[in-house]
Amino acid sequence: MSLFATKPLSRIIEESEGGSHTLKRTLGPMNLVALGIGAIIGAGLFSLTGIAAANHAGPAVVFSFLVAAIGCAFAGMCYSEFATMIPIAGSAYTYSYATMGELLAWIIGWDLVLEYAVGAATVSVSWSAYVVSFLNDIGIALPPQLTASPWSAVKLADGSAATGYINLPAVFVVCVISVLLMTGIQESARVNAIIVVIKVSVVIVFILVGWSYIDAKNYQPFIPQNTGTFGEFGWSGVVRAAGVIFFAYIGFDAVSTAAQEAKNPQRNMPIGIIGSLIICTILYVLFAHVLTGMVNYADFKGAAAPVALAIDKTPYLWLNKAVKLAIIAGFTSVILVMLLGQSRVFFSMSRDGLLPGIFSDIHPRWFTPYRSNMLFMVFVSLFSAFAPIEVVGEMTSIGTLFAFVLVCAGILVMRRTHPDLQRPFRTPLVPIVPILGVLVNFALMFGLGWTNWARLFVWLAIGLCIYFGYSRHHSKLAAK
Ligand code: ALA
Repeated sequence: MSLFATKPLSRIIEESEGGSHTLKRTLGPMNLVALGIGAIIGAGLFSLTGIAAANHAGPAVVFSFLVAAIGCAFAGMCYSEFATMIPIAGSAYTYSYATMGELLAWIIGWDLVLEYAVGAATVSVSWSAYVVSFLNDIGIALPPQLTASPWSAVKLADGSAATGYINLPAVFVVCVISVLLMTGIQESARVNAIIVVIKVSVVIVFILVGWSYIDAKNYQPFIPQNTGTFGEFGWSGVVRAAGVIFFAYIGFDAVSTAAQEAKNPQRNMPIGIIGSLIICTILYVLFAHVLTGMVNYADFKGAAAPVALAIDKTPYLWLNKAVKLAIIAGFTSVILVMLLGQSRVFFSMSRDGLLPGIFSDIHPRWFTPYRSNMLFMVFVSLFSAFAPIEVVGEMTSIGTLFAFVLVCAGILVMRRTHPDLQRPFRTPLVPIVPILGVLVNFALMFGLGWTNWARLFVWLAIGLCIYFGYSRHHSKLAAK
């Protein structure tokens, strides 16, 4: 069989319905929007806004949020078209299988591990750091060596330096969330919704409280003059800052991995994907505007906690703790949706025979791919506990952008190969929107630097070994 054989759409849909390997459709539009917001609002907003303003854009960082949102919107519309056309769990993997063939589908499925599993591990380590700091604030000190991996330096109680043994809080959060995911999609969606309410409330309170502490002088100049170096202020700085804060938008695409569990996906998937993106864009722009209005952008340089600087300008210092709580809550739901997405992508790959059947075994009562959740619990926990996370963190961004590029390209292919297919949601202005999607997201990938590219290639090379060693010989499409 050709490496580029595509899986007929009719067969993809047919296989998804029936058999014991079936997920249950229970998620409504609000659940899907909440899943999107759950995955999107995390540390990116709270930690990167100040950095992007101080180093690249000044108060014009609000434009950067808009630029990044437009890049994501191109991809979001393409994801929506696919998710309504092929409402199946595998997201970009399944779309590529239908359009560009098995090899590319495998590559993208393997690439998504970077976004979801590695992303979840990275976020769990940051979760751990914030929880340790929050507990410290309220007078509870955990043994430092049990809160860091062997690659990280820690300071012991007597002031001496050491390295960590294991990051136990990170393992804890991964295990708790994995167990939740095993027990049911509705339970997981409910917990996610509670977390989303907490973090969105904190963002809104910050905007409302901060608004009256805006000093108009801080907006002068709104777009600081370029220093002569590309990316340091001026319009090039706005674009560079958009690349930095792109991380804050990652996650809306994860909604598409739940397509097979959505009620009426033709209507609800675009609501989930685009709705969550629009809500977060509005919150982000307002948040960035208030933050850079309260504190002069230059003061954010080197600041570890930019939001704390702003809160210090108000009498409401308790907001600092609330923001920390929102960050912890934010991280928790990001991990939840990423682990959910990961198990759903491998679910589809396993159903196609490209991965062992264990990844698509569904629990008879919970209707979840519980064995897959369990395996990822072990894998991601080990990673969170012992790996040098800082090194792999940026791979989440490059992996995600790569998926965006392929999904946008996939729309162009699909419109040519299947022009008559029913498209409940149509990407507007084709081919302009998908082409711009490819270009913008590729440009952002380019900005991530060669070390990330090198890691991406190594990861994909490992994936190809697995494909040619196992998947190709077990592919159900090839067998037929
Ligand atoms: N968008 C998510 C965050 O900012 C990944 O943490």
